[in-house]
Amino acid sequence: MSTIRLAVVGAGNQCTGQLMPAIPYLKVFDLVGICDLQRELAERNARNFGARAAYTDVDTMLKEAKPDACMVVGPPIIHEQIGLKVLEHGCHLFVEKPTSPTLEGAKKLAELSVRKGLVGQVGHMMRHAAPVKIAAEFAQSESFGKLLSIESKYTTWPTGAAKPDSGWGDSDEDWTYMLVQGGHPIDLMRHFLGEVTRVAAFRSHGQGNTKVYSITLEGAEGRVGFLNLQDSYNGWYTGLELVGDGRATVRVDDLGRVTLRTGEKTTPTEKSVWGHTQQTWEPHHILTAWNRSGYGNQLQHFADCILAKKPAHPSLVDGYRNLVVAQAILDSIKQRKVIDVPAAALAV
Ligand SMILES: NC(=O)c1ccc[n+]([C@@H]2O[C@H](COP(=O)([O-])OP(=O)(O)OC[C@H]3O[C@@H](n4cnc5c(N)ncnc54)[C@H](O)[C@@H]3O)[C@@H](O)[C@H]2O)c1
Repeated sequence: MSTIRLAVVGAGNQCTGQLMPAIPYLKVFDLVGICDLQRELAERNARNFGARAAYTDVDTMLKEAKPDACMVVGPPIIHEQIGLKVLEHGCHLFVEKPTSPTLEGAKKLAELSVRKGLVGQVGHMMRHAAPVKIAAEFAQSESFGKLLSIESKYTTWPTGAAKPDSGWGDSDEDWTYMLVQGGHPIDLMRHFLGEVTRVAAFRSHGQGNTKVYSITLEGAEGRVGFLNLQDSYNGWYTGLELVGDGRATVRVDDLGRVTLRTGEKTTPTEKSVWGHTQQTWEPHHILTAWNRSGYGNQLQHFADCILAKKPAHPSLVDGYRNLVVAQAILDSIKQRKVIDVPAAALAV
């Protein structure tokens, strides 16, 4: 296979604004169909992004357009329900986050992708963001040493509870936050930390739906992590800092500047001068948003994995495990204790 017949379900804001703009760059995809319950949206995106046909019914699209792969971007309930249908049909699957509004649903989807041996990926795009990949490379350098700790700050706008039966989760404000926002920084944490074994979390809550979560995590390989999640009026920001046991730390500011700091007094002149030696990388002004944020890079990765017949990341299993960690965070807050995340809870 050298071309992938791609069908898309959903032509709403996220799909149109962040994902579809990457498609014309990804020549490997043959866009065979776009489906949305709202015909005018499906037709608009088919016209604007060059799909061969527009549909309002997924079954008809799967039958007529004969895709090799599907991208599903809608209310989380369709990630699960249409996702299961797509996998049963034998198509590789990319879904936006979260993979389901429930843990049970996320597990079901992950299990089916594994059983079918198909590529299944979830849209936690930050691990594919160009600056995060560059930071990961810096952290491989000899001076950095062994990765000890990961710290991430993630700020967004106040998230209220989802409306029941909206397909966006249940009416619990904290669980809705984890579905809508928290999954992203949890995924970034797991990308560097490895599997989470223990969680201790605290939360403060203010007026409206403003809240902040402070979370300490322990990873299976002895690494530690700290998440500061601000669901306040702080706007959208992501910070990441990696600490090694060599003479270095790596920072990423807002999916932009990457700084490798190699500590004090590392050059001959610095021997008697206090200061910091650092190497920085900054995005060029023409770097496209789909590259910087990872929205497009993740789709390139999806295509590469289909062609190479290898698993993608973050996989649908990662999507499930991110929600297991989210649940452990909420349990820790509620029960006011450190919560163990046993390997059995992560098993798929
Ligand atoms: N990764 C990110 O940074 C990020 C950012 C924003 C949103 N998202 C995710 O993207 C998803 C979509 O969000 P949005 O803001 O675009 O929502 P939206 O409401 O704008 O779009 C959803 C679209 O899905 C369509 N739809 C619903 N049920 C359908 C069905 N059965 N068949 C076909 N089409 C159907 C709707 O008609 C609508 O056009 C959400 O799950 C959200 O969590 C991810």
